[in-house]
Amino acid sequence: MAVILIYPLILCILGLVVWVAYLVSSPSQYDGPPPGSGKGTVLVHVLVLGDIGRSPRMTYHALSIAKHGGIVNLIGYLESPPHPDLLNNPNITISPLPSPPKRPQSIPFIVFAPWKVLLQVYHLAWLLAYGLEPAQWILVQNPPSIPTLAIASLICRLRNTKLMIDWHNYGWTILSGTRGAGHPLVRLSKIYECYFGRLGFFHLTVTHAMARQLRRPPYSITQPMIPVHDRPASIFQPITNPSTRREILIRVLPDAEKALVPRLLDGTMRLVVSSTSWTPDEDFSIFLDALIQYAATSDTTPTPVLAIITGKGPQKAMYLDQIAALTAAGRLPNVRIATAFLPFADYAALLACADLGVCLHMSSSGVDLPMKVVDMFGAGLPVAAYAGYESVGELVKEGGNGRGFETAGELAGILVHLLGDEGKGELERLRKGAVKEGKRRWDEEWDGKVGIIMGLVS
Ligand SMILES: *[C@@H]1O[C@H](CO)[C@@H](O)[C@H](O)[C@H]1NC(C)=O
Repeated sequence: MAVILIYPLILCILGLVVWVAYLVSSPSQYDGPPPGSGKGTVLVHVLVLGDIGRSPRMTYHALSIAKHGGIVNLIGYLESPPHPDLLNNPNITISPLPSPPKRPQSIPFIVFAPWKVLLQVYHLAWLLAYGLEPAQWILVQNPPSIPTLAIASLICRLRNTKLMIDWHNYGWTILSGTRGAGHPLVRLSKIYECYFGRLGFFHLTVTHAMARQLRRPPYSITQPMIPVHDRPASIFQPITNPSTRREILIRVLPDAEKALVPRLLDGTMRLVVSSTSWTPDEDFSIFLDALIQYAATSDTTPTPVLAIITGKGPQKAMYLDQIAALTAAGRLPNVRIATAFLPFADYAALLACADLGVCLHMSSSGVDLPMKVVDMFGAGLPVAAYAGYESVGELVKEGGNGRGFETAGELAGILVHLLGDEGKGELERLRKGAVKEGKRRWDEEWDGKVGIIMGLVS
């Protein structure tokens, strides 16, 4: 009961704070390009309530706007190092937000969350209303939705700015993954997101499926909307010269696995790569069970496999213990599982050397897509991907550039087939499909869509 009462109260306080700020001195409005810049210069505030260094899509938006002569203020947290091209670009200014406070163990979520949101409202509203020049566009990433959607739509109204919402996913579905679908906070954030989502001037989505869904209740968005698919960064490229494979493997494989390089090169051992956040929404047990079943295949002796798992996360230690126990018990013959945490460039090179990528992404909304598969295709790597959600077919084409699975048994079957002699031809076909898919890059996707809408590309 207390929960239900706290939130309307907080919304009232927020409303009051913003209203008072508005009354005290109303912000200037956008009426043409900033003085001194060329006629027709487009000023865009790109806003993400997250770490800029880990927001690749907003980084690409900013770089694309700047490349076409737009002036960008990129607003977000400065935690990990941002993409170097952002820092070197004269058309981009980073306007950092103070990092959000971390919740101390002793303070309950229900007390801490509103406090954190209030701080964010204060910093954001001030920056967008007074700290920065009024812009022609605010391009905001959703999620996080709270409080960005509310603040951005209010500021846009006050400053005569157009709001473009870039839908990566939904905040409330992510929250329901951690809090449970019936939690009052989840219901409230769904109402919030549906209401403020309708205040955009233009909408971008990561899939066609998401665009279709946003047109229907409960979202019921009526403004113009286009899907802009994610594309691989230029660092992800297939290997053009096979002789570099050896050199790359020796450089990037963990020390304990370097002795396996000759077997990987002559094909008597296969290399499978997966990257995981080691959280329950990427259920690693599916992959582990599949490898156990693969090792136990009785009709043929399976080709030995080296599986490299990259990424950091909470369940990593637990699974490493399980893997060690299974290996010691002899349940993973012909399968070697190793973990690695690689610099970005080495990860990209490793993908280009692998035989198959495995993706365990389970979409909370059912309509987003895993960036890691986009990157695998960029490196020319075919994938076996969890396929139990609506939008997966917009990226992974069954039998074209990869294979889909929903259970460990299905994944084991795919591994037996594609890594064995019998599946060699098919794997080669999938690889060609992956290379083809990965050739389509961000610029093509962006210039003809967002560039035209923003008036940067004619
Ligand atoms: C910055 O904008 C100008 C046009 O105003 C453009 O010619 C130039 O290429 C842009 N620079 C970068 C690095 O994107």
